Amino acid sequence: MDKTVVLTGIKPTGMPHLGNYLGAIRPALKRADDESVEARFFIADYHSLNTMRNAEELRGSIHEIAATWLACGLDPSKTLIYKQSDVPETFELTTILMAFTAKGLMNRAHAYKAAVDVNRSKEQSDDHQINMGLYTYPVLMAADILLFDTQEVPVGKDQVQHVEMAQDIAGVINHNYKAPLLTIPEARIDEKVMLVPGSDGRKMSKSYGNHIPLFLPEKKLRKMIMKIVTNSQGMEEPKDPETCNVFALYKLFATAEEQTALAQRYRAGGMGWGEAKQELFEKINDEIKDQRAIYDELMADTTKIDAILAQGAEQARAVASQTIQRLRKAVGVA
Ligand code: TRP
Repeated sequence: MDKTVVLTGIKPTGMPHLGNYLGAIRPALKRADDESVEARFFIADYHSLNTMRNAEELRGSIHEIAATWLACGLDPSKTLIYKQSDVPETFELTTILMAFTAKGLMNRAHAYKAAVDVNRSKEQSDDHQINMGLYTYPVLMAADILLFDTQEVPVGKDQVQHVEMAQDIAGVINHNYKAPLLTIPEARIDEKVMLVPGSDGRKMSKSYGNHIPLFLPEKKLRKMIMKIVTNSQGMEEPKDPETCNVFALYKLFATAEEQTALAQRYRAGGMGWGEAKQELFEKINDEIKDQRAIYDELMADTTKIDAILAQGAEQARAVASQTIQRLRKAVGVA
């Protein structure tokens, strides 16, 4: 049986947080363990260039993402890991896709529209601080996906529209050349972990400033967990686990039995918020402490990461060059 090609990318914009871990990294690695899956993970570094203009920061971020994947259990002998910028075929495919992408399709992209809305709310011109990288972001992402004959893209809800755009663009090309040149990908959302609350209860996101970085030193992690917003109920009062940010995060790490046990302590009263947060801290720390040790080691000397990425790039290009050859012929430049 042919394996299902699963591909996902993460933009390097600082150390991944618990939301990235629960929503993307952990489920993707679980999927990669499936024998029937051929998984490909990459670091979308040129996507970050739209917003990250400090070279040292970008370089550091790339290493942080790679170290995170590896520390969380990605086995580079089984699963491809590479850096987008190391696969120049991506950018040739982007050029081809551009010719088939309606400008109107890009006008409808959520991220672009949100940036325009911000400008309008500040009575600035629509185009203020919007670069072509942001505007054409979905085309580059489509190239990432289509280059590898990807069938399945595990993504968060906010990225589904981008996968649909990749479907659209691939469809236009296949239709034009009357051949299945590009594989039509499907988005896959893990319903269970879709909503990871941040410390204020809204979706965990760096842009809200409510995120908890994944591999903080233990003391700092505990400190951030202690800052999670709760209501003002006193120690003795019975508490409702279902409306609590601490419990919502706990659920994403604990077994069903552990969840039931903690919920009972909430409802019984006599447990203060500090105690609930300590439970959450220990649960998270138990899951990630070995991984943090590997992460710290990889980050202390990044030559190992660089070697793994270089090897990944070579393997990725072997696949990518086939797709590009096929398209060059089909469109008539070769
Ligand atoms: N746009 C994605 C994000 O911001 C990152 C990304 C870039 C990606 N290219 C991709 C994800 C291809 C999946 C497939 O999260």
